[in-house]
Amino acid sequence: MTTFTLAHLSDPHIPPLPKPKPVELLGKRVLGYLNWARNRHRIHRREMLDAIVADMLAQRPDHIAVTGDLVNLALAAEFAPARTWLERVGPPDRVTLVPGNHDAYVRGAVPRFAQTFGDYMRGDVEAPGFPFLQRRGPLALIGVSTAVPTAPFMATGWLGQSQLDALDRMLAELSGASLFRALLIHHPLRSKHAHKRLTDSDALQAVLKRRGVELILHGHDHIHSTMWFEGPTGRIPAVGVPSASSIADGHKPAAAYNMFAITRENDAWRCEQTVRGFGNGTEIGELQRSMLT
Ligand SMILES: [Fe+2]
Repeated sequence: MTTFTLAHLSDPHIPPLPKPKPVELLGKRVLGYLNWARNRHRIHRREMLDAIVADMLAQRPDHIAVTGDLVNLALAAEFAPARTWLERVGPPDRVTLVPGNHDAYVRGAVPRFAQTFGDYMRGDVEAPGFPFLQRRGPLALIGVSTAVPTAPFMATGWLGQSQLDALDRMLAELSGASLFRALLIHHPLRSKHAHKRLTDSDALQAVLKRRGVELILHGHDHIHSTMWFEGPTGRIPAVGVPSASSIADGHKPAAAYNMFAITRENDAWRCEQTVRGFGNGTEIGELQRSMLT
């Protein structure tokens, strides 16, 4: 019985932040820049991110999922270094990306992100856009975009009806195909904070309850998290990870990533999750191991 391994990291917020041009600091970015200068530059560290990526690549996963927030303020100068970083994680046929709210920090960033990373978030057959579907081994990777520009102090996400309808159709076509369906989404489906929530999560949950997936992977909250949602034949696990670049700052945990070992056994999927990261130490190690299904 062969096992397929899927690694998941999120929210690298790739440091360092290039110095913004004065014209780029109009509107929402000025607040984000002050926040970076005051706090975030101390939390998101390049050496943490590099160590996480090196450890993950040493595990030799079959595929890697990255659920957004590659950049911080979506400045023009952030995109080329972000592309270089992602290419070091792996080529587009081994890495699947979905965008986060920081990747769409301002309206003008949305097309730039799509241009820069289009080959990492494109379906095998359909035209560019969301949702997209990639088949890798026994996996059907489904990527959606919740990344929309928001007002200052807001970090909400939104899918929209046309994406939800297309997702519904896509999942209906996949039903009965014996594939392990993994939904990649930046925002968690449930949030304690109204200003960070996925605003049309109820509609997404209705689609998932009707059609089902085997696993949901998300970022955004920068914490270890497992939530469960109703599917057509049982509960669906939704797993979130800390930022791949963060130090433990007293509020959020240190950088970590997840590995999922996926095996077909007696007509059912087995999925074992291994959490690897810094924990409370200075070296990366295994933090937890558990059977999700
Ligand atoms: Fe983030």
